[in-house]
Amino acid sequence: MSRDLPAGTYEIYSDGSFEATTNRVMDSGSDDDERRVEAALRPRRLADYAGQTRVRDQLGLVLEAARRRGAPPDHVLLSGPPGLGKTTLAMIVAAELEQPIRITSGPAIQHAGDLAAILSSLAEGEVLFLDEIHRMSRAAEEMLYLAMEDFRVDVVVGKGPGATAIPLELPPFTVVGATTRSGLLPAPLRDRFGFTGHLDYYAAEDLEQILMRSARLLEVKAHPRGISEIAGRSRGTPRIANRLLRRVRDWAQVHGRGVVDEKAAHTALALFDVDDKGLDRLDRAVLEALCRRFAGGPVGLSTLAVAVGEESDTVETVAEPYLVREGFMIRTPRGRAAAPLAWQHLGLTPPAPADLGVAQPLPFGDGEGGRFGG
Ligand SMILES: Nc1ncnc2c1ncn2[C@@H]1O[C@H](COP(=O)(O)OP(=O)(O)OP(=O)(O)O)[C@@H](O)[C@H]1O
Ligand SMILES: [Mg+2]
Repeated sequence: MSRDLPAGTYEIYSDGSFEATTNRVMDSGSDDDERRVEAALRPRRLADYAGQTRVRDQLGLVLEAARRRGAPPDHVLLSGPPGLGKTTLAMIVAAELEQPIRITSGPAIQHAGDLAAILSSLAEGEVLFLDEIHRMSRAAEEMLYLAMEDFRVDVVVGKGPGATAIPLELPPFTVVGATTRSGLLPAPLRDRFGFTGHLDYYAAEDLEQILMRSARLLEVKAHPRGISEIAGRSRGTPRIANRLLRRVRDWAQVHGRGVVDEKAAHTALALFDVDDKGLDRLDRAVLEALCRRFAGGPVGLSTLAVAVGEESDTVETVAEPYLVREGFMIRTPRGRAAAPLAWQHLGLTPPAPADLGVAQPLPFGDGEGGRFGG
């Protein structure tokens, strides 16, 4: 064995592969079941939540202190790109507090009345998980401020001039909000969360740990080199890591020895369009558009999104954060631009500096061939 495995029972084979022996989860392997499998792979307790050590330790402290006081903790806001474990952590908060959890999301709350109905039915100590909290209506947001701060809602009875607002006391409860766009949250709402955890992309070692746990739950035999190959190409994202693991398993079961090893990982990931840097089809489409169609940019987000046939929101929350973080893309005040790494990764030659739209004052009368604007 070349590395330490997380706690658990393993069968270790002579070729260095291992198979963990624990609970079985349902998995028929079809895409329809992905959601269910994902839920089954969710760690249930903080101790099983890999990586994000800072947020995990801070949150652990907040929850333990609340438990000892016998009172609900401060409201918790979790932010970060998709698939990093916000929903998982929200469920863990409830599990650690041994409280029920009520799950809803911003888009599901169209009217303040929808929120009032939920709030007024909460039990003492209950956890209210508000996913995509940045997409709640303004009226609901305002009701939420009051509920979070004073544990009170004003229920409007009647209509028109005769309508009266009856204040309703709420038992203390905990809001766990999740958002991929914390920048869109109005400051008064953000301020009402006593604890904010920002989730960042995972290091490869953390993803390996997650993958080994998932392999164990899925009852697939995995080789450490296969695991590390998948971890290295998962865009720092547990959801992607788990999904790729299942595809590599599929390949291994159909074409290989049923073992998630390096060869299976290599071949299957190539088949599913995941390149050696872990960039997927959308990531590459964004870079291709930037370099080939917009000469490296800068170009506005909406123009870029149209060029790749996606919503601006998807490009901004799904592809961009990782591309920026890994140094493929640069955000400038005039739009998105390709970094040298992007050209290199696509095997293209970046234009000479003079061709770039970068502010380079040209001498008067020498404007030919120069480019203005972005
Ligand atoms: N720290 C972790 N340890 C182990 N598994 C994790 C961890 N974080 C996430 N996962 C796995 O990744 C999957 C996706 O996580 P989750 O649904 O919590 O992401 P999310 O941040 O809520 O994404 P979205 O923004 O799309 O709602 C889960 O099914 C879970 O199995
Ligand atoms: Mg989620």
